[in-house]
Amino acid sequence: MKVLLLGSGGREHALAWKIAQSPKIEKLYIAPGNAGTSAAGENVNIKATDFPALKAFALENKVDMIVVGPEDPLVQGIFDKFKEDDSTRHIAIIGPTAKGAQLEGSKEFAKEFMQRHNIPTARYKSVTAQTLDEGLAFLETLEAPYVLKADGLCAGKGVLILPSLEEARKELKEMLGGMFGNASATVVIEEFLSGIECSVFVLSDSRHYKILPVAKDYKRIGEGDRGLNTGGMGSVTPVPFANDEFMEKVRTRIIEPTINGLLEENILYKGFIFLGLINVKGEPMVIEYNVRMGDPETESVMLRIKSDIVELFEGVHQVNLDTKTLELDPRTAACVMLVSGGYPEAYEKGKVMTGFGQAACTDSILFHAGTAMKDGDIVTNGGRVIAVCSYGDTKEEALAKSYTVADMIDFDKKYFRRDIGFDL
Ligand code: AMP
Ligand code: GLY
Repeated sequence: MKVLLLGSGGREHALAWKIAQSPKIEKLYIAPGNAGTSAAGENVNIKATDFPALKAFALENKVDMIVVGPEDPLVQGIFDKFKEDDSTRHIAIIGPTAKGAQLEGSKEFAKEFMQRHNIPTARYKSVTAQTLDEGLAFLETLEAPYVLKADGLCAGKGVLILPSLEEARKELKEMLGGMFGNASATVVIEEFLSGIECSVFVLSDSRHYKILPVAKDYKRIGEGDRGLNTGGMGSVTPVPFANDEFMEKVRTRIIEPTINGLLEENILYKGFIFLGLINVKGEPMVIEYNVRMGDPETESVMLRIKSDIVELFEGVHQVNLDTKTLELDPRTAACVMLVSGGYPEAYEKGKVMTGFGQAACTDSILFHAGTAMKDGDIVTNGGRVIAVCSYGDTKEEALAKSYTVADMIDFDKKYFRRDIGFDL
């Protein structure tokens, strides 16, 4: 089978690594990929949202399946585009329709969906500039801190958590005034939920589903979960508090109502559902839906899937996921992200990276996020640079291995958090 994977981050390197292990793979292409994905397949210089170029490439190279890594192509309707076109309809697309992708593309849509299907989530009100007064009145009914979310996609930056009512009122007006452009023309105001978060990944064929390993990610730049938000500084799976009792609640109160709700509303969904959950005194509640895998959760989750992921994807395409087995590795997997000094604010690129030879003698796995090849060297090419991932019989063992390798890989102004997993 010929598979085309879309995206260019650490998530895509991890997916490429896993897909390439399938005996079913005849050829794996990654568009556009990065310096790491070229070890798992062939990079193709096409943007993940350039649908005409992707179509031409897929037809010319007889691609059988497209696996979509990031959300943008999904929200822009890649599934629908390929299915509406007679020449590309036969290609399996792993990812939801544009309508399904609204679960991530519009916070308001996601909240209304949860309300319609009684899925536990924070109390909210959705407002626009026309209904600002209602928004300000709703803020008065809440207690600090205040959560404001831009409705549309903002590359992970559209959520503000404000400590005082005064700041919340001010920021609400600014968001509606265009702080995030059109993405914040509608703002969802939410009640603040207090608890510990985890990421639950579900693979859906639209009728059946499989629950993939649960992971926890670490979004803040600083140790102790302080400082600015990043794309993610590390991840660990499994998550001890996501035990059988908790997951049974997640399954019956969240996953099944989500799958059934999509079916009832005729929203075709063949892809990953990423539930950002918060554990509020033992009760799971939904913070957000994403319509793709998480990054850097994927980098540890892929280590724990023993089954052939391409076979699972075939089950998604053929709507017989129930006949496929999902076998998991019982060990812990932990990933530590090495980032460029200064990230998530301004940082430099093009720093020569060393230590790969030494790292190759360990059993840790490196997934490239922001790297490039330059004059025969691997150089930094992004804020998040490389994810160091390891197995362990315990969380401590997996992390110790990852930290050993994190010290081996070097580049000017390297930074990483030394406390991944601290709260588990
Ligand atoms: P989101 O983009 O919706 O994932 O929000 C980003 C982060 O903001 C989440 O990972 C949470 O840490 C936090 N957050 C979002 N909504 C809430 C909420 N209702 N209560 C508490 N924290 C929240
Ligand atoms: N790790 C969170 C995300 O991918 O959105």
